[in-house]
Amino acid sequence: MDFKTLVPGAGGAAAVAADALVVVVAGDAVPAALPKALATACQQAVDAGDFELKAGRTAWLTGVAGVKAPRVVFTHAADASAAAFRKAVAAGLALIKGTGTVQLAVASAGAAEPDAASAEALVAAVAEATYIYRATKPSAAPAGKLKGVTLLVGKAQADAAETGLKQGQAIAAGVHLARECANRPGNVCTPTYLAQEAKKLAKAPRIKVEVLERKDCEKLGMGSFLSVAQGSDEPLKFIVLRYSGAAKTAAPVVLVGKGITFDTGGISLKPGAEMDEMKYDMGGAASVLGTFKALADLQPAINVVGLIPATENMPSGKAVKPGDVVTSMSGQTIEILNTDAEGRLILCDALTYAERFKPAAVVDIATLTGACVIALGHHRSGLFSPDDALAAELLAAGDKGQDPAWRMPTDAEYDEGLKSHYADMANIGGRAGGAITAAMFLKRYTGKFLWAHLDIAGTAWKSGAAKGATGRPVPLLTHFLLSRAAARAAGR
Ligand code: BES
Ligand code: MN
Ligand code: ZN
Repeated sequence: MDFKTLVPGAGGAAAVAADALVVVVAGDAVPAALPKALATACQQAVDAGDFELKAGRTAWLTGVAGVKAPRVVFTHAADASAAAFRKAVAAGLALIKGTGTVQLAVASAGAAEPDAASAEALVAAVAEATYIYRATKPSAAPAGKLKGVTLLVGKAQADAAETGLKQGQAIAAGVHLARECANRPGNVCTPTYLAQEAKKLAKAPRIKVEVLERKDCEKLGMGSFLSVAQGSDEPLKFIVLRYSGAAKTAAPVVLVGKGITFDTGGISLKPGAEMDEMKYDMGGAASVLGTFKALADLQPAINVVGLIPATENMPSGKAVKPGDVVTSMSGQTIEILNTDAEGRLILCDALTYAERFKPAAVVDIATLTGACVIALGHHRSGLFSPDDALAAELLAAGDKGQDPAWRMPTDAEYDEGLKSHYADMANIGGRAGGAITAAMFLKRYTGKFLWAHLDIAGTAWKSGAAKGATGRPVPLLTHFLLSRAAARAAGR
């Protein structure tokens, strides 16, 4: 898809050549900013009862007098925010779908100014509307005809909008990669597959990748990660990505992504219903790969390390059993009371491994707990961090990327449930506050750096009719890194 901005000449949006024109409006009156021909058509649609000036409403018109584009869609945004703009554009695109539209122009009147944020939102909406999974479904619908999208902007916003389109496309490419990985079934997207995808990313400038094998992990003493992998016949991989955009001396941000390519629960076997969705249990890993894709495109001045412990969690004669005690890379011992709480078991060794990079901050991303889905549903990811400043940074990045998170507590009291008779800790607390005890488990491995944890169990994929990976939280992570790079450049 080709995205560009255009400052319309005399006649405004009405005079722009395109196969379709989507006009985002807001407020309860026909916006004064509309060129006359569009204002008249909009008012007629309202008067005829075909278009209500209410959020979510759309109108489809053809052959509007005085408008160059043969198709016009009015779509109403709830307010002037970029988030409302995105929703309104998505509703407009739904009407365009299946038409002969090749070149689309998008204008805003009374809704969000076409600036950086709304330009990024536009790209996200178009990417979302045009994504089709085909990897294992060759019969999927063919791609639509849409080839180019032009955002109509005011002269003053042209540069900002251009930047927004560029960032939006890099983030959309990252989201796309994350979705493509996570949507692939467990027999395709194996640990080996994730390692291959990481190696592909290393073709971009400033990116290097190294893949540790089982033997390497044994040497490192990753007893906890290894215990999860021991029940699987698929070879494990521990993937190390590096993006070097800043001076060697600049401390990197480390992203750690949970890479369980299928989670059966292990000996603590999960019930059968919807177990197929546990192919998405590598959503954290996918988001790290996706974020590196965005870094490859944007080349910001920052150093980033990506760590992906990747394995299946399977039951077998060799699988780890409830009650088994393992020694993590940190030296702390763990009594595995439930083999289905495997995410924390692979992440803890990756967190210990992160120490060697002397990180500026470590953020882990994991489809970690069903309890987080119960707590927050599917809109916001769970954010855990003992550090207020880091938490605020990540929340702001989520808002900016329209990929929101919500902060959860990390009080010491929540750690108490992890006590074990036979080891330094158990791998589960009680049922109550399950997302928090999982975070508290991870916290025990993060004493040497600033740390945050994102539980994306509710946001990494959708179930039901719209089933599929979302690519979240690539937008949040990318904005976090871009803001850090900008702050560094500004000497903050
Ligand atoms: N991958 C799951 C978490 C999950 C479950 C995400 C359902 C999304 C939907 C994780 O490995 C897991 O099984 N967690 C257990 C932990 C429990 C055994 C303490 C859970 O949430 O039930
Ligand atoms: Mn599990
Ligand atoms: Zn899992």
